[in-house]
Amino acid sequence: MKNKSVRNIAIMGLGTVGGGAYDIIASNGDYIERTQGLDVRVKRILDRTDAPLRARGIDPSLYCGSVDELAADKEIEVVVETMGGVEPAKTFITKMLESGKSVVTANKELLAKFWHELEPIAAAHGCGLFFEASCVGGVPVIRALGESFQGDRVQSICGIINGTTNYILSKMSSENLGYAEALGAAQSLGYAEADPTSDVEGYDAAYKLSILGSLAFHTCLPYGSIYREGITKVTAADIKNAHDLGYEIKLLAIGKRDGNNVEARVHPAFVPKNHPLASVSGAYNAVYLNGDHVGDLMFYGAGAGAHPTGSAIVSDVIKALSDKPRYCDFANTGKLDKSVSLVGDFVSGYYLCVTVDDKAGVLSRLSTVLSDNGVSIKAATQSPSDGDAATVMFLTHRAREHAVMQSLEAIGKLASVRSVDSVIRVL
Ligand code: HSE
Repeated sequence: MKNKSVRNIAIMGLGTVGGGAYDIIASNGDYIERTQGLDVRVKRILDRTDAPLRARGIDPSLYCGSVDELAADKEIEVVVETMGGVEPAKTFITKMLESGKSVVTANKELLAKFWHELEPIAAAHGCGLFFEASCVGGVPVIRALGESFQGDRVQSICGIINGTTNYILSKMSSENLGYAEALGAAQSLGYAEADPTSDVEGYDAAYKLSILGSLAFHTCLPYGSIYREGITKVTAADIKNAHDLGYEIKLLAIGKRDGNNVEARVHPAFVPKNHPLASVSGAYNAVYLNGDHVGDLMFYGAGAGAHPTGSAIVSDVIKALSDKPRYCDFANTGKLDKSVSLVGDFVSGYYLCVTVDDKAGVLSRLSTVLSDNGVSIKAATQSPSDGDAATVMFLTHRAREHAVMQSLEAIGKLASVRSVDSVIRVL
């Protein structure tokens, strides 16, 4: 006879995160039952083979090799998707939603690309799509954005939302390493994958910004509309120069909403050392946001890892089993709303680094180009480089992106300029 108090769930994909969620339910099941009144049991685990179950000492009879069998199991109320990637995760989630099961996912790429398709399927079948674990691991920022600032207009979010790149940049900063060496250290510790492209080129952060920004600004912020630049061009010299000028370099995800203007970008940035984000180091994440009434807030914690991310999943499982599903409070079409203008020509301070011939008049020619384009210099330093070359660094006052880019194009064409080495925005 079915025990009515048991609430059955399934896990699709028993990797790091799925395994972390399983561990939490196994180790804290009694505590969850006592505090939440829910006896949560993992009834089935879908994977390619039962090897991941055996490797973790999990009863292999829980193994399920067929997604259709899982979908047909009426005792399963909630399915956790921790497979990652777009397919087959999208097809499998769709099957679960269509069979009336709520889905809890950690899949930011899938959400960023297909949230607008999946949520209507969930709504049509009266079930929920939960994704706290998709952004910033165990830090409950999705829940906060969805449920805590109803009386506020969130005006900006600025986050370090990729742990791998934060680890690499922190390692470069603390140990004076080049990018390749720090990436190697991140790979040997398992932070960075063998193919690190998604993290180091900023795709992962852009997926997360798309999700966080949509919730924060109550409008669809499509992933494809986000300006994206990774950390691969950041050099040890940039980090040293940043330190000398009183900054740390961080990969930031920045979203802003001002009326119907929305700005969304992921790129490395100089962060003043006295800003709370400057001290977020290693694989940690943080989201700094401003609401028009609540003011500034910062959410900080582990942005990845089996148990932090598993914690977010278990929290969503409990929510899925306890509450009515909630859906987006904006038209989630997968496209920018017609009423919203995306600001591409944003305003920022800039750090520029140029190698030039070390001879009379060069500095003046550089500053003339900047001034001709309306870019005001805040600080300039010059240091000897190899032989008869010199390195010139500028920090600019806030300027429009197009004005700085036009200046750099003109600077690059000056006969006395050997190379434009770095362009990094300043927070
Ligand atoms: N690759 C991601 C990171 C994992 O480095 O933050 C969590 O999404």
